[in-house]
Amino acid sequence: MPRRKIALIGGGQIGGVLTQLIALEELGDVVLYDIVEDLPQGKGLDIAEASRVDQFDVTVKGTNNYQDIGGADLVIVTAGLPRKPGMSRDDLLITNAKIMQTVAENIKKYAPNSIVIVISNPLDAMVTLCQKVTGFAHNKVIGQAGVLDSSRFATFIAWELGVSVKDINALVLGGHGDTMVPLVRYANVNGIPVMELLERKYKDAAKAKEVMDAMVQRTKMAGGEVVKLLKTGSAFYSPAASAIAMAKAVLNDEKRVLPTCAYLNGEFGINGYYVGVPAVLGANGVERVIEISLNEEEKNMLNNSVEAVKVLVADMDRLGF
Ligand code: NAI
Ligand code: 2OP
Repeated sequence: MPRRKIALIGGGQIGGVLTQLIALEELGDVVLYDIVEDLPQGKGLDIAEASRVDQFDVTVKGTNNYQDIGGADLVIVTAGLPRKPGMSRDDLLITNAKIMQTVAENIKKYAPNSIVIVISNPLDAMVTLCQKVTGFAHNKVIGQAGVLDSSRFATFIAWELGVSVKDINALVLGGHGDTMVPLVRYANVNGIPVMELLERKYKDAAKAKEVMDAMVQRTKMAGGEVVKLLKTGSAFYSPAASAIAMAKAVLNDEKRVLPTCAYLNGEFGINGYYVGVPAVLGANGVERVIEISLNEEEKNMLNNSVEAVKVLVADMDRLGF
């Protein structure tokens, strides 16, 4: 079987970690594209030179030439600017939309049969634009946000309960912004509801709720928390790891159920927008959206998050993207 070809558009912080993770797991040959001269070549060379030590047999090619992504099976897009302290994801809209326009035109031209995972922010808007410009089927252009947001939620729960994060199931729906919806009711430790464990720990339902509310709030603001600490950029290890989980699901046809920024055709009562929802990921990208039952409060929160996505999409329309 020929080796898979994975194109990474954007050779910055996330692009570099993506390259390393792909190499370590031998998921395929990597082409790392960036607009900055010599940057992707340098990163590619550095990572390739670890091949003997880390025992991987994939090629890593850094490039400033879009032709090199030709025939890629999978494309992961991180091109764009990251947030700076005090900046919202939405501030990035205009700058990153211009970048995405060019990126998507080139994906369409050189990798017309690929599946695309978008990471660039504002995530939901950038996925929408990438699909629009490529014209690819909606199931083949997807976004990474929910895997990361859910992992952050799970991490905070594990710390609070003093149990292994491996046993935590936590799901975050909605757009990748401050309105995202960490689903408290579905959060569990190997099937045991997290709220039950918190109530047992604190022997006080009100205190348990307070602790959970704080974890929900921290999850919503988690990207900003890292930005504030790093001062020169945003999170990059965890976003890269999250996209790799999605990439593996697609490349290996794993049928994993992962929170994915997917296009909705009426699911959850939402029509015509990309929003974070649980989806089955396999060789065809999003193979199925899994609708879960939501109570009135959860529905309202999800709708509120969708409204925020709609504003971004309308802004892009108004600006001519
Ligand atoms: P970075 O600044 O380190 O890397 C971005 C790279 O894009 C730079 O190397 C830059 O030269 C390149 N670039 C700029 N214009 C380009 C163009 N026209 N064509 C190709 N490359 C171009 O940023 P980082 O940390 O890698 O983040 C990338 C994006 O991912 C940002 O938009 C950030 O906000 C977003 N992000 C998304 C997350 C998510 O969960 N969806 C989480 C964290 C960051
Ligand atoms: C994050 O969630 C900033 O979207 C980026 O870390």
